[in-house]
Amino acid sequence: MIPSLRGTHDILPGEVEKWQHVERVARALCERYGYVEIRTPVIEREELFIKGTGDTTDIVNKEMYAFTDKGGDRITLRPEATPSMVRAFVEHSLEQSMAAAKIYALGPMFRYERPQKGRYRQFHQLDIEVFGMNDPAIDAEVIDLAWSLILALGIPQAELVINSVGCAECRPRFQAALLAALGDDLPKLCQDCQRRAQTNPLRIYDCKVPADQPIIDRLPHSVDYLCEPCATHFAGVQTHLTAWEIPWRISHRLVRGLDYYTRTTFEVLGHALGAQNAMLGGGRYDGLVKQLGGPDRSGIGFAAGLERLVIALPEGTAIAAPSRAFVVAIGEDGRTEALKLLRELRTAGLAAQMEFEARGVRAQMKRADRLQARATLIVGGDELARGEVTVRDMRTGDQRGVPRADVVSVTRAIIET
Ligand code: HAM
Repeated sequence: MIPSLRGTHDILPGEVEKWQHVERVARALCERYGYVEIRTPVIEREELFIKGTGDTTDIVNKEMYAFTDKGGDRITLRPEATPSMVRAFVEHSLEQSMAAAKIYALGPMFRYERPQKGRYRQFHQLDIEVFGMNDPAIDAEVIDLAWSLILALGIPQAELVINSVGCAECRPRFQAALLAALGDDLPKLCQDCQRRAQTNPLRIYDCKVPADQPIIDRLPHSVDYLCEPCATHFAGVQTHLTAWEIPWRISHRLVRGLDYYTRTTFEVLGHALGAQNAMLGGGRYDGLVKQLGGPDRSGIGFAAGLERLVIALPEGTAIAAPSRAFVVAIGEDGRTEALKLLRELRTAGLAAQMEFEARGVRAQMKRADRLQARATLIVGGDELARGEVTVRDMRTGDQRGVPRADVVSVTRAIIET
């Protein structure tokens, strides 16, 4: 046996129903909020992520599945969807063709991370993005969609955290204040933090090393350094969230691990998840579209990790649907008629199964039980000679001979109640 790769996983029957449920709920919500689906390739040019995700991020520096293809091009398995969504928006001038540039995608992402519960090398995201809308109401609407997804899935103990990381105008002031406040403590921080201080000081807030925490807790907060327009924007986002009665908390440490964020950032944390507790995360990225060669348009969105949503689902969600009807054949004549009936049931839109190997009636009935059939149709023997089929309601145990012409409608009545 050649086993699957570390950090990848098969989604097996029994589990896949939960995935289908999450995907169904996600699609329905996206469409209710005016988003249209888009499907972009899993492979992209490496430079899209170096420029888009950012060359100071862990994703680009440590986690990309990147290789040179047979034509000599540098290719990457996408580690996130946002740069691809921006590329598609620019490449196809979606601004012109769409009434509102609101798009969503579902699909696999790839990051070479150390696998643990809730963290995989191939994982799946629901990603939504909006382009060209600047009003804080759109930030609130995006956050509302994220929060509504959690509510619609019935995930308990979720917490929404928000922050503002400012813009190109005010962030340098905050970064300078951060480095000044660190001062003599900088050499006491971990190696990663020392590097972050050089490349992207905000990322120091992402540090999980316990010994660093007392120092990090004393550092200044980005919201205290926002320029006037950023402060007004952030206040606007909060006003809208309050009006919609969406509960949130400001987290000063929510700087997010990607380079492109401006102003609003947010995450929804799931407290049943352990260390990898972010079920979704996102924010505004007002410079990215231009940086990737497009017009000067703002952007905002989020991505939810489907594995993490599935883990957090309440017990009993989306159990496998039991098989509805089972056809049991007695003897060779019965088998010929049973096969005909099986096809008829399916053509009529009913879920029906049958045992194809020649087995005794008891073995066939056992199979019907295992499949949790609602109705069992026994074809053969005297009844067949009378032009009837025995129909048994598996919940009540009632059993009667039904004229052949009525079998489909009687079966439907049993399995649809
Ligand atoms: P992200 O925070 O890197 O943001 O990922 C979003 C979500 O994907 C996480 O909250 C988590 O649920 C899931 N996720 C990330 N890495 C893994 C992993 N290795 N295994 C399992 N799940 C994982 C982004 O990807 C941004 N593109 C979000 C965004 C969209 N910002 C604006 N628009």
